[in-house]
Amino acid sequence: MLFDPRPKTSRKELYDREKELQVLEDFARKGSPLMVMLGIRRIGKTSLLRVFLHESGRPFIYIDARALEEQGFRREALYRMLSSELTRLRGKWTSLVEYLRILDGVEIGPALVRFDLVRSPPSLIEVFSRIDEWASDSGMSIIVAVDEAQLLRYLRGGKGRVDFTQVVSYAYDHLRNMRFVITGSEVGLLVDFLGFNNPKSWLYGRVRDDLIIARFDRDRSIDFLEEGFNECGVTYTRSVLEETVAKVDGIPGWLTYFGYHYCKNPSPEAVLQVFEEAKTLALDELRKLHSRYYALALKAIALGYSRWRNIKQALELWTGRSLTNAQVTRALKTLAKLGLIENVGGMYKILDPIIAEAAKEL
Ligand SMILES: Nc1ncnc2c1ncn2[C@@H]1O[C@H](COP(=O)(O)OP(=O)(O)OP(=O)(O)O)[C@@H](O)[C@H]1O
Ligand SMILES: [Mg+2]
Repeated sequence: MLFDPRPKTSRKELYDREKELQVLEDFARKGSPLMVMLGIRRIGKTSLLRVFLHESGRPFIYIDARALEEQGFRREALYRMLSSELTRLRGKWTSLVEYLRILDGVEIGPALVRFDLVRSPPSLIEVFSRIDEWASDSGMSIIVAVDEAQLLRYLRGGKGRVDFTQVVSYAYDHLRNMRFVITGSEVGLLVDFLGFNNPKSWLYGRVRDDLIIARFDRDRSIDFLEEGFNECGVTYTRSVLEETVAKVDGIPGWLTYFGYHYCKNPSPEAVLQVFEEAKTLALDELRKLHSRYYALALKAIALGYSRWRNIKQALELWTGRSLTNAQVTRALKTLAKLGLIENVGGMYKILDPIIAEAAKEL
């Protein structure tokens, strides 16, 4: 179903993205060791990544760093995810276990691959090295895909932080058959975490492939909606299509959200009603912004204050306090790092039209 609100996993549920899938396939065949997929929230990063992994026929390990959050970003949680991925892999590629068996701290059961988390599991570099050796002997490459990777900056181990970028940089230099695809919604935080421009980072100066996921253009957005409406068998007017696309500007996640609700309740008022619901959802997300200044800066931009000095004036007016330039700049930088705003030629702009509407109510 095109309007299934979950991330897609199969090609037939994914609308378009032919070029992007081809770029990923080329990368897996002959690209650099590292691909970074960038795009704002709800643009379809997870869907694209998952469809690619399932289509490619190659072995892969998929880590969604969001799942680590509820376990306090503990290293054990990462090992548990790895163990379930290896268990899945061995179902198809039984020879893998022979390469893992020789590692201390790995238990190979009849169905499970488990790490000994009580004593000490092997390091990630040791595990990845064995997997790489297996892939090499089997004449394949293996893909390690990490979603919401910027969250790995919180990863903790027994004695402190675990540096995932160190593992990637080791793999980059030494593991010829391992390729990483890394993505995340908080684009600036992701780029900072990977540290390609930071001389202190493990990945400093490394070459990588980038894939920017863009929104659908107007025609594609309309076609996407028509295809979805036909699939669920509802009648619709041209104006429903046009109104929806005017409101969401080709962001597949919102198109899907609108389509899903319209199919459940097709009526002339549906577009406005769903728009209000989407705004509420966006507002709930924005309320999680850590600082009141960040929220107010976003609100200022939403209300049309697009220059730095006007944003500062609005913030001072609303808070009744005078702010330092650094405070204003920090708020704007953070919003940009979260992938919410962009600065084009000195004018700040909110990237998602639903967020822009919601931010007015902050
Ligand atoms: N090309 C597509 N075809 C069909 N549905 C899509 C497509 N791209 C995204 N979607 C739908 O849009 C929604 C958002 O997609 P997805 O979760 O993949 O985006 P994301 O960029 O990973 O979002 P987030 O940043 O919130 O993690 C989902 O409901 C998904 O099914
Ligand atoms: Mg996602």
